[in-house]
Amino acid sequence: MTAIRVNLPGDPIFPAAGPDRSYWVRCGAGLLDAIGPTVRDAGGRRAVVVCDAAVTRSHGRRVADSLRSAGIDVLAVDVPSGEPSKSVAEAARLWNAFADWAVDRGTHVVAIGGGVVGDLSGFVAATFGRGLPLWHVPTTLVAQVDSAIGGKTGINLPGGKNLVGAFWQPLGVFSDIDTLATLPRREFVSGFAEIIKYGVIFDAEFFSWLEANAARLLDREAVALTQAIGRSAALKAAVVERDEREITGERAALNYGHTFAHAFEAAAGYGTLLHGEAVAIGMARAARLALLMGRIDGALVARQDRLIESFGLPASWEAMATHTAGSLVALMSRDKKTLGGRLRFVLPDRLGHVELVDGVSHDAVIKALDG
Ligand SMILES: NC(=O)c1ccc[n+]([C@@H]2O[C@H](COP(=O)([O-])OP(=O)(O)OC[C@H]3O[C@@H](n4cnc5c(N)ncnc54)[C@H](O)[C@@H]3O)[C@@H](O)[C@H]2O)c1
Ligand SMILES: [Zn+2]
Repeated sequence: MTAIRVNLPGDPIFPAAGPDRSYWVRCGAGLLDAIGPTVRDAGGRRAVVVCDAAVTRSHGRRVADSLRSAGIDVLAVDVPSGEPSKSVAEAARLWNAFADWAVDRGTHVVAIGGGVVGDLSGFVAATFGRGLPLWHVPTTLVAQVDSAIGGKTGINLPGGKNLVGAFWQPLGVFSDIDTLATLPRREFVSGFAEIIKYGVIFDAEFFSWLEANAARLLDREAVALTQAIGRSAALKAAVVERDEREITGERAALNYGHTFAHAFEAAAGYGTLLHGEAVAIGMARAARLALLMGRIDGALVARQDRLIESFGLPASWEAMATHTAGSLVALMSRDKKTLGGRLRFVLPDRLGHVELVDGVSHDAVIKALDG
């Protein structure tokens, strides 16, 4: 099984990608300039840098320069910002650019951007030439704590998100907090929903640490940010190691708040709510559902609400009133995480621990939405 190690400032650096496909996630500041030598040491002689167009000038060029300084031949390809780029058309454009540049298995792919570019480039790397060495350089908080870790890649079809994809682990991940300096505030804040999620589902101590450090984190204070990203990455890495392909069910814990969130995102119209905002509201609703089912007490619901709100995230959704609870439940029944139409939720039974609960009644879900 792939071991994913998180490397914090001051830790010894492991060799990239061991023979057992293990790799590290480096978290900290000033990492972009180290990418060239690392890729070269891992055998890269040529590299395609796939970059979100919003960060080409700020961060992409620095990575390309670092690669070139290390003697690596670079093809730089920009991808338009936004979810529509996770498309068959954009994947085909990249495949063709790779073919035109005679990309072979000795060519490394370096993905720079948020989850959109990571998922798209990862999928193209997994499929071109039956698989190319890949590096992730996540530049959003969401990507640093979630999408760049775990090896899920994919693109969307008109019929749904992430319908086509592959598991494809990178050789390494560079989570450079300096890249977050240019991230718009709303995108930055939304990343904290997934960070709070890790505390609720796996780590009560981390949850308390977040309560004590919310202000430092919102100020983008480097030491605190590195710690939060590192701990989140380690928590996700640990569950991915135990259940890489979502077989044992352990990885399902990561879907906490997400069955609700997917319904809110669909009802609001994609792009209205940021994913993290929908997850924050979803976690607040899931906690209420757990309370209604007698699994947790009201104090925990209130404590989670307070942490969500202290990061400036929503715990409820005003526009919810314009959608009937019944129509939201119908959307949830269509979510791929339900089994045979029965509603299935990841619910906490105490801080730091969740279970997958099957056969939840529609009535309870409707009450959780209203409460
Ligand atoms: N593979 C997985 O396991 C996984 C997990 C979670 C989410 N995802 C996917 O990730 C995607 C969402 O990722 P995201 O939230 O990073 O969105 P994103 O990639 O769309 O980035 C958000 C916005 O920030 C901009 N941006 C990125 N980095 C920037 C920076 N440093 N400075 C300024 N602007 C910057 C982008 O251009 C974009 O407009 C979704 O497609 C989702 O399906 C995948
Ligand atoms: Zn999510």
